[in-house]
Amino acid sequence: MTQTVSVNNLLDKLESHIQGLTYGESPSELYEPISYIMSLGGKRIRPLLTLLSYSLYKSDFENILAPAAAVEVFHNFTLMHDDIMDDAPLRRGQATVHEKWNPNTAILSGDVMLVRAYGMLVDIDPLLLPKCIRLFNQTAAEVCEGQQHDMNFEAIDIVQEEAYIDMIRLKTAVLLGFALELGALLAGKNDQEAKKLYDFGVNIGIGFQLKDDLLDVYADKAKFGKQVGGDIIANKKTFLLIKAKELATGKVKDDLEKWIAAKDFDKEEKVRAVTAIYDQLGIKSLTEQKMQEYFDKGFAQFESLHAPNKDAFRILQQLTKDLINREK
Ligand code: IPE
Ligand code: IPE
Ligand code: MG
Ligand code: MG
Ligand code: MG
Repeated sequence: MTQTVSVNNLLDKLESHIQGLTYGESPSELYEPISYIMSLGGKRIRPLLTLLSYSLYKSDFENILAPAAAVEVFHNFTLMHDDIMDDAPLRRGQATVHEKWNPNTAILSGDVMLVRAYGMLVDIDPLLLPKCIRLFNQTAAEVCEGQQHDMNFEAIDIVQEEAYIDMIRLKTAVLLGFALELGALLAGKNDQEAKKLYDFGVNIGIGFQLKDDLLDVYADKAKFGKQVGGDIIANKKTFLLIKAKELATGKVKDDLEKWIAAKDFDKEEKVRAVTAIYDQLGIKSLTEQKMQEYFDKGFAQFESLHAPNKDAFRILQQLTKDLINREK
């Protein structure tokens, strides 16, 4: 049976598929954290992108819920490990896995999630499987490359904007690109069409991470679900910090450098002080401009798709536009 495309219908079907997933039972310490993180919700953007890009061309999206869920399970695996690396206490409004259990549990549960994600891909059309696995492998390795750059940059004084953009392309954007590309390939589209969706996803993904960096400083704590100011505490070389370092002069520059060099500090005080510097330098609107630039680049590419389903086209456009003003 085919269904009309609506974002609620896609989300409902996706969510009940995800809720029905099992990862294993024993030992419970290995599997409980997986059910825990997967049950905390999240926006489900990546599998939605897969379902929507497929729906641009075909109407039976129910047949690709498993590979779409694979993308979400992979994403949640990266979050579980990312939260250890970032020493993050909160995820989706709840304790992170390494805090609720311990880091070793988060490492191992994350590992098995990666394996389960691959398991959710094995039943796709055998003719498409090798190509999809190769692309998934490439993406997964790039995410790790981006994450390593992200950590390397914490300890480097000066990071150029270009290097930052490449870091977020790797750690975040390529997965949004892959999610879209996968949907098109599963719908039987050729490499050229799938690549257009990939490129669109990468630009949207860069905009998405710029917004994430902005929210890390400026989100409403009650809505965000993550610790506000975590990037400031860790000296993450976000676009905000890179621009602030470029623009600060005199006493503001000295203050910023003092906070970055500080070893023993009150976390809240550092977050407050660095945020005040960002405010003084107009960093928020500079970041918003940069984010908009990448979203616009993406939207321009989107227009060149040959998408027979205009409903799916409109929904994908709206969903990605809504990412600009999201609050979490
Ligand atoms: C968080 O991803 C990690 C980033 C790449 C910024 P999301 O913002 O998609 O997190 P959830 O899945 O909705 O919680
Ligand atoms: C995470 O970037 C990217 C990946 C998980 C690969 P962040 O570290 O900024 O993501 P959040 O803010 O913790 O969700
Ligand atoms: Mg993080
Ligand atoms: Mg991180
Ligand atoms: Mg972040």
